[in-house]
Amino acid sequence: MTERMTELGFKAADIKALDINPFKNIGDRWMLITAGDENDSNTMTASWGGLGVMWGKNVAIAVIRPQRYTKKFVDEQESFTLSFYPDDKKPALSYCGSHSGKDMAKGEKAAAAGLTPLYVDGTVAYEEADMILVCKKLYEAPVDPKGFADESLIAKWYPDSDFHEAYVAEITAVYTK
Ligand SMILES: Cc1cc2nc3c(=O)[nH]c(=O)nc-3n(C[C@H](O)[C@H](O)[C@H](O)COP(=O)(O)O)c2cc1C
Repeated sequence: MTERMTELGFKAADIKALDINPFKNIGDRWMLITAGDENDSNTMTASWGGLGVMWGKNVAIAVIRPQRYTKKFVDEQESFTLSFYPDDKKPALSYCGSHSGKDMAKGEKAAAAGLTPLYVDGTVAYEEADMILVCKKLYEAPVDPKGFADESLIAKWYPDSDFHEAYVAEITAVYTK
């Protein structure tokens, strides 16, 4: 927790006391996957992923297609954040889900979406979030087409063979407003 986070009204939360419904919070309200540092960072919207328990740890699962610019930052860093927003920020999430930081100057994507970087626990989220999960990478692997029991999903979701990279990450801190 930084002084800035206290000023913004963030508090460290007990993960077991959280009342999060992942189907609603990820699937409907969406989240931002953000990674980087004070020098440079990037963010993208995600509506797929999960929250659960693996290897005796509280984890988040995120899936990122290889062409996302955010993937480079997630791959370079030990940690990333998943952040969640009040409903009036949905336009910002739509923007971050339809524009790539690859085509912009440093920091321009977040700024254009009206988001202010917030540096937390060696990674990045945004001041406008109402919940931030700090996630430390544990495992990653590409989605393998050979693994599909329902092969119709391959034609439906991967006509370009751009199989997601799946990341399982330990949730090391939760901050809520
Ligand atoms: C609602 C919504 C959900 C999305 N979910 C994902 C996702 O789970 N994984 C993914 O790779 N892309 C997802 N995207 C697409 C990326 O957010 C989008 O391609 C974004 O522009 C990537 O930005 P970047 O290139 O700056 O990383 C989603 C987009 C929207 C609008």
